[in-house]
Amino acid sequence: MTKALLLGALLACASTSVLAQTQPWMDTSKSPDERAKAVVAAMTEDEKLSLVMGYTDPDALMKEPDDVVSPAIKADVAAHHIKGSAGYISGIPRLGITPQWQTDASIGVRVEGMERTALPSSLATAASFDPSVPFAGGVMIGHEARLSGFNTFLAGGSNLAREPRNGRNFEYVGEDPWLAGQMAGSLIAGIQSTHMVSTMKHYAINDQESQRTTVDATISPEAMHQSDLLAFEFVYEKGDPGSVMCSYNLINGRWACENEYLENKVLKHDWGFKGYVMSDWGAVHSTVDAANNGLDQMTGYPCCGMKGPWFDAANLKAAMAAGDITQKRLDDMAERILWPLFAKGVIDDPAKVGPIDFKADADVSQTAAEQSLVLLKNDGNLLPLAGVTSVAIIGGHADKGVLAGGGSSGVHPVGGNAVTGVEPTSWPGPVIFMPSSPLDALKSELPKKTKLVWDNGTDTAEAAQTAAKADVAIVFVTQWNGEGFDTGLELGGNQDALVAAVAAANPKTIVVVESGGAVLMPWLDKVPAVLEAWYPGIRGGAAIARTLTGKVNPSGHLPITFPASNDQLAHATIPGFHVNDGVPVHITYDEGAAIGYKWYDIKSFKPLFAFGHGLSYTSFAVSGGAASADASDMITVTGNISNTGKLDGKGVAMAFVSADNWQALGWEGPKRLVGFAKADLKPGAGQAFSLSVDPRLLATFEVADDNWRIKAGSYHILLGQASDDLPVSLDVTLTDKIWSDVHGQ
Ligand code: BGC
Repeated sequence: MTKALLLGALLACASTSVLAQTQPWMDTSKSPDERAKAVVAAMTEDEKLSLVMGYTDPDALMKEPDDVVSPAIKADVAAHHIKGSAGYISGIPRLGITPQWQTDASIGVRVEGMERTALPSSLATAASFDPSVPFAGGVMIGHEARLSGFNTFLAGGSNLAREPRNGRNFEYVGEDPWLAGQMAGSLIAGIQSTHMVSTMKHYAINDQESQRTTVDATISPEAMHQSDLLAFEFVYEKGDPGSVMCSYNLINGRWACENEYLENKVLKHDWGFKGYVMSDWGAVHSTVDAANNGLDQMTGYPCCGMKGPWFDAANLKAAMAAGDITQKRLDDMAERILWPLFAKGVIDDPAKVGPIDFKADADVSQTAAEQSLVLLKNDGNLLPLAGVTSVAIIGGHADKGVLAGGGSSGVHPVGGNAVTGVEPTSWPGPVIFMPSSPLDALKSELPKKTKLVWDNGTDTAEAAQTAAKADVAIVFVTQWNGEGFDTGLELGGNQDALVAAVAAANPKTIVVVESGGAVLMPWLDKVPAVLEAWYPGIRGGAAIARTLTGKVNPSGHLPITFPASNDQLAHATIPGFHVNDGVPVHITYDEGAAIGYKWYDIKSFKPLFAFGHGLSYTSFAVSGGAASADASDMITVTGNISNTGKLDGKGVAMAFVSADNWQALGWEGPKRLVGFAKADLKPGAGQAFSLSVDPRLLATFEVADDNWRIKAGSYHILLGQASDDLPVSLDVTLTDKIWSDVHGQ
């Protein structure tokens, strides 16, 4: 037996070394750069060209003329594309190069007809203020993707919530660059730890969905670097994505997928990105400009009204023959696509279809939800529910499930859609409710003798009567957001009236909000308690019930500011809002980098709820500590967070930097988030934290010199638990410093 094993091992070694000699790129002792170069050197031109063009939907592809898409490609796509998935890129079997199977997106595997586990929305997970939460979620969905046959995840939504009405804010990670960097970066790192490639998307300034394929966003380079690009830069550094997806829109007059400044200069040159830029589905507008300005792979042909296969062999060969695209550039494109396949382990550890442990995966999703729900208001400690004999549960389909966002991130959940037929039933629908009923979960969490009465909330007067008869009323309100459209901040239908009527009938009314982002709450003064549940994922109902009943102590904090009214928004209207797609529109982001709490600070607006706000059933105190800068202006902040209440709980300490002369410095606002730390604490216990401040958060981006500049002077480090609750101030003095954005310099 032992001899047989030994012989087997020897044979395996021998064949590996033979392979390493004939196919040196399979030698795992070589670096991913060396391996990518070696395999490209062994490729024919047609093989290189096959890597840069992706396809989807074989049925539509078959209808393309053979001179546009060759019968060989059609046959390959028909044989290997995973039905209902986002896209497919042919492999090169003779060289051991796997095809690329692409799946959406940030909360789990989305394939029509495949039931998979959904995490809470990315914005929800950002509310956990704990990077280990998106990392664990990334590992879970990465495994499910591999077991479903995929090796490329179109996850990693990183756009800032500049426009609070943006329909895809739920796919992103909030309004602050540092928070976004830690949270989206951790999701990507988690996914890629399972030997998948993940994207970081949608690069960049894709900050509204209205007319997303035609909108031209004007923004100064300084403001762009200090906001949206800084978020992407932090995500890139934390997550090391193998791919970056360029967005649909134009930035300062240039399409994102042929934007030289964003792709070649900032991403590839300055940040040193070694992977590939893939287009969003239908976001390519040219062959030569796109290829020369940085796009490496066109994806998803022939979906989304594409005007032509810009990156297919015929177009690229013609451009090369005319001398418009060089051989060197084609090699670079191929190397960039192959690099992450080696670097992330896709080639060495191929994805294999297999059974999925849905129970274990749902547990991961529930843990994420339980860290992400934000208790916005809790007057008189109405929550957690205790000693109630009857509860009226009203509205929001809470008898069936919890809402999810629409579009390409909409996972078809294990157990199916809990509420079918809600409009729209087709793209960007169907509207999906995860099969996790808060009502059922409350039944199991509350004592058996508690009477629960259900009312669907469609008749406001009837709901109020039901509420009047119960000790406590819980109203569930929902707002559906999705890809391709923006949404006003108002709740739809009769929901505001419903809450007001129920609150008038029962002063102990709790509102649970399931929304993609911020909503207005005209009834806020009338209700004692509000829980923001976001889109809480496949076990959302359980997470809500366990939070309402105190099994879980809420510990989420807002990753976005909740406006008090529409008057507080930076833009009164969104160009092209609720107009059919395809109208060229223009938006000038004259608020620059003053997004979210920075905007509220400079305008002295009092929001409904501030960035970072989040209550607990216990209480915490944050104390400093010290802040000191070394000779390179690297600031270290120390402090302590302690549980000053009577229950176990998780507290979040936040650190901001502020400057009295912020305008003279060229900052976008008086303060910036520079760090945060979450601690799980018993009553009376405390935990020390130490944070290092990234120099870019102390600086302004100087376009003329192309670097970050810290100006000498006195700064304050503010510590606390929300952007409007920062009781500790520590002074720190900085000297003039230049920080190059070119990585490694
Ligand atoms: C979305 C992307 C998505 C792609 C593939 C596009 O419509 O904007 O986020 O990854 O489709 O489904």
